[in-house]
Amino acid sequence: MNHSATHTRHQIFSPAIRVFHWLRALSILVLVITGFYISWPFLVAPETNDIQVQSYIRFAHLVFGFVLTAVTLVRMYLFFFSKSDIERRSFKDVINPKSWVTQLKSYMWSGHLHKAGIYGPLQFMTYLAISVVAIFICITGLALYANVYHQGMGGAIWEISNWFIAQMGGLAPVRTWHHYLTWVFIIFTLIHVYMAVWSGIRFKHNSVDSIVSGYDYHKH
Ligand code: HEM
Repeated sequence: MNHSATHTRHQIFSPAIRVFHWLRALSILVLVITGFYISWPFLVAPETNDIQVQSYIRFAHLVFGFVLTAVTLVRMYLFFFSKSDIERRSFKDVINPKSWVTQLKSYMWSGHLHKAGIYGPLQFMTYLAISVVAIFICITGLALYANVYHQGMGGAIWEISNWFIAQMGGLAPVRTWHHYLTWVFIIFTLIHVYMAVWSGIRFKHNSVDSIVSGYDYHKH
């Protein structure tokens, strides 16, 4: 059957946004696994010191840590300056109390969701919050990094990291916060994936596929 007879198709996510979404998803997955391993290195027997498992895992953590830091910065830039304003337009709903009521009602199966941009107000605020957490986990990660590597990039951010560590009350609290925030990503991802699938079913449009293909479909 030709779906163009019954459905209209439009691009909602640019290629850049899709690529960065999946790069972030991959980095977060690797960072959570390697991070928990760094915290509890269960593969190495306590009496040996010639096994490099921990070093390889830390190396992967750092590589993906820098990927996440870079993507977080680029994604912030794209939010403000990308050609399409489909993301920025969503802010209109955030400052409109009516849109909050419409979204919350629609989540309880009452009425439809009319969005100014691409995200509902609650969704926008959730993404804003997770972005702030991403910035914070990157800053705490970079501070932990600078504390171990004193040359190159680590050396370049040494002064500012020291200042940050002092504000946080020492290196131990920085590490603890870095660890706590890991759980925010785990909880966010579970809810995020559930909501992505659920909203496609609830509102009868493309959901998870659109962050792969870029397209959404609507019935005429
Ligand atoms: C979603 C993002 C991230 C998650 C979930 C995460 C998770 C973790 C966890 C659970 C630990 C172990 C903390 C502990 O000892 O209890 C850790 C350590 C560490 N992380 Fe991350 N991290 C993330 C991002 C980053 C970033 C962006 C960097 C910076 C490049 C980074 C650098 C480090 C460093 C240097 C350590 C300490 C390694 C060590 O003590 O040997 N992390 N991370």
